[in-house]
Amino acid sequence: MQPIEPPAGFDLLEALATAVLLLDDDLRILRANASALALLETSEGRLRQVPLGHALPGADELVDAARRTLLEGRSFTERGLDLRLGKLSTTLVDCSVTPLWRERPEPAFVVVEMTNVERRQRIQHEGNLLMQNHVSSALLRGLAHEIKNPLGGIRGAAQLLERELEDQRQAEYTQIIIGEADRLRTLVDRMLGPRGSSNKQQLNIHDVLEHVRMVVEAERVGDAVIERDYDPSLPEVYADRDQLVQAFMNLLRNALQAVEGNLGTVTLRTRIQRKFTIGSTLHRLVVRVQVIDSGPGVDPELGASIFFPLVSGRAEGSGLGLPIAQSLIQRQGGLIGFESEPGHTEFSVWLPLGEEA
Ligand SMILES: Nc1ncnc2c1ncn2[C@@H]1O[C@H](COP(=O)(O)OP(=O)(O)OP(=O)(O)O)[C@@H](O)[C@H]1O
Ligand SMILES: [Mg+2]
Repeated sequence: MQPIEPPAGFDLLEALATAVLLLDDDLRILRANASALALLETSEGRLRQVPLGHALPGADELVDAARRTLLEGRSFTERGLDLRLGKLSTTLVDCSVTPLWRERPEPAFVVVEMTNVERRQRIQHEGNLLMQNHVSSALLRGLAHEIKNPLGGIRGAAQLLERELEDQRQAEYTQIIIGEADRLRTLVDRMLGPRGSSNKQQLNIHDVLEHVRMVVEAERVGDAVIERDYDPSLPEVYADRDQLVQAFMNLLRNALQAVEGNLGTVTLRTRIQRKFTIGSTLHRLVVRVQVIDSGPGVDPELGASIFFPLVSGRAEGSGLGLPIAQSLIQRQGGLIGFESEPGHTEFSVWLPLGEEA
């Protein structure tokens, strides 16, 4: 069989999705392929001849592995290395380091291959969240329908009974039945969630947030100050205004309830974020709105189950705020996630931009 020849000028290294660095025996970078430059967010000129340890500060394990490769002449694999990029961002990579020989026995070059696993991990995490929401809203709707049907009957029968009563003092009891049936109906309507189609339009997210802030402040849940940290250059999002208002209202109420009584702060922050995957779509740009509070944090025992309906850590909570918010945001093609530790809880809402919707 004839070997298949690549076209002239074809550079396999440049075509790889894996980031590849070629190092000399002083661990200086001789070459970096396009995927490596993209991963490290730098240019080839800034890497050439630079020692690995300088190019990747904080990647001591990787530098160690490269040294051992040179000494022992064999390959090493390091999984889940936290690679520091710039001052703030880090990314998670799987690395393998392999010796290359000019003449044995001394390896003269080292090849470092890095695969970014952060995106894969995040997609998996988001996939779980989406799936969870899908299952929980189906459960919720089923349950709500089952409750709603007999509820009308119970209320109607109580009204009939009231009319037939000979002793009007007994009406106190039928009123309880009617009142409780009404309360349950309101709850069930919340469980069934907003109906009707979305009315999407180009929106300034800050208008939405300011509206929510004013409504929630008027309710005076506690007396925490709501701080704002908005990025004024944010582009518009394509979404249903009422649905966004409802979703952010639920998040903001939760945040205020979390800081109630401990003089905490709640912050609304908006940012643009590059390259973000929601579901299976990789968006070039997304808007990220964070509702941050300094409260005690999400109870670790509840964890991600707070997105399930009827899961609540509050005595008077119905556990519907978050699942409703999640399903409303998903209708806009977005996603809600959270990170929490005592003193700092962040609920993030990612929304795709108009032109991609
Ligand atoms: N900012 C937060 N800090 C700490 N815990 C939170 C926060 N937001 C949500 N939680 C936890 O998640 C639970 C579920 O929240 P969710 O909004 O779904 O229901 P709820 O607030 O209990 O009731 P409601 O239906 O009235 O909103 C809360 O009871 C609380 O335990
Ligand atoms: Mg709530």
